[in-house]
Amino acid sequence: MALKLKREELVRTRNLIGGEWSEAVSRARYPVTNPATGEIIAEVANSGPADARAATNAAYQAAESWRNRLPRERAAILRRWHALLVENSEDLATLMSMEQGKPMAESRGEVAYGASYVAWFAEEATRTYGDLIPQQQRGKQMRAMKEPVGIVAAITPWNFPLAMIARKIAPALAAGCTVVGKPAEDTPLTALALAALAGEAGVPAGVLNMLSASREQGIEAVADWLADDRVRKVTFTGSTAVGKYLARESAGTLKKLSLELGGNAPFIVFDDADLDAAIAGLMAAKFRNGGQTCVCPNRIYVQAGVFDRFAELLAARVGALKVASATDPEAQIGPMINAKAIDKIARHVEDAVSKGAIVLTGGKRLTELGPNYYAPTVFTHASNDMLVTCEETFGPVAPLYRFDQEEEAVRLANDSPFGLAAYFYTRDMRRAERVARRLEAGVVGLNEGAVSSEAAPFGGVKESGYGREGSKYGLDDYLTIKYVCQGNLD
Ligand code: SIN
Repeated sequence: MALKLKREELVRTRNLIGGEWSEAVSRARYPVTNPATGEIIAEVANSGPADARAATNAAYQAAESWRNRLPRERAAILRRWHALLVENSEDLATLMSMEQGKPMAESRGEVAYGASYVAWFAEEATRTYGDLIPQQQRGKQMRAMKEPVGIVAAITPWNFPLAMIARKIAPALAAGCTVVGKPAEDTPLTALALAALAGEAGVPAGVLNMLSASREQGIEAVADWLADDRVRKVTFTGSTAVGKYLARESAGTLKKLSLELGGNAPFIVFDDADLDAAIAGLMAAKFRNGGQTCVCPNRIYVQAGVFDRFAELLAARVGALKVASATDPEAQIGPMINAKAIDKIARHVEDAVSKGAIVLTGGKRLTELGPNYYAPTVFTHASNDMLVTCEETFGPVAPLYRFDQEEEAVRLANDSPFGLAAYFYTRDMRRAERVARRLEAGVVGLNEGAVSSEAAPFGGVKESGYGREGSKYGLDDYLTIKYVCQGNLD
């Protein structure tokens, strides 16, 4: 797949700092590869601490004037940015499929999904209401007003190269914050193109700064942001291990944090469920992005009465999925992101089989297609001692666990340090209410597998992190409350 865009200038390989596209201070670069083939598609700036510092300096200089703009002026710029994302959707989707591997249909969907956060926060920008507190003492008036938190460091993963960064930058800019951003090592091109379009939309120089970096250099660059007391907030989507590191290292300057971390989502199918709806929901939730999402079901608990039927129906659907590169218009599952990812998936399946799992479909690498392909897999006889039960597989693998009682299903579902998403299917409305309340998760899909929306609060509990993205709550993560007490009024 050649990197052929309608607008070639959207392929940016340098950093955006203070409105200028610049090489890393070290002039180092690193290769970005196509996971479908392993071929190099671009060489991008390999930034380090000096670049991170330059980005913070630019964000600092731009901060005062950006926060003083009227919210509706910021909203107008966000609306133009949204329009440009939509207009350049095909190019953005191509870039994304090239560097991330997802089928074009999914990439197009992700551009629309990411852009929807920009449109949403353009609207929310004008709604950062405070409060006039009912009078408590004569001659005194108290009010709470919302202010931008300050410079935001946005650090994002490779699984959604556009949506994850858009849903951090959009509320930050709407709130009046300036941003320093670093996308994942594997997928910098989409984020850099997004930043280029932000500039075209009128985001002023220094308000949005974007660096690319290899994994090793990226750690050094981010360390500079963590130590810098001018950076007041870190927003991160990625692994729990990295989230904990960021929380520890931000403690020195007590930054505000939003951490959207790992998940290990349970998906429960009760005997009384609409099985067709449950299969459709599972297919949507589990196999979106090849199973490389934090919210995808990782443990599928099916009640004994419908277990065999469900397993059979699911295996038939999964076995029919078309695995191919993004160039194939019929592709439903693309390659996994890299060798490390595919090795983990293979290790999880091998471990499960060695402990008694019975594979109904898949269960192998598809080396004939390329280095990073894995066959969509369903297996039964999953048990608690398997790696798939306690770790996020992050791939197209559906392990089925059999259960008898509701109580048991809820206990198993909650038996995880993570709590991002959870799903369940039932037609009993009393059970629906009971189980929705008892599941320990930030996001619950009740008879629904497609839960993500710019209008909904997205985020976890337990070791899946804290903070919410999207919805009216998403803006608060970028705001701080100032209390003004005015006296001697009488
Ligand atoms: C994620 O996998 O972290 C995000 C998924 C989503 O936004 O739906």
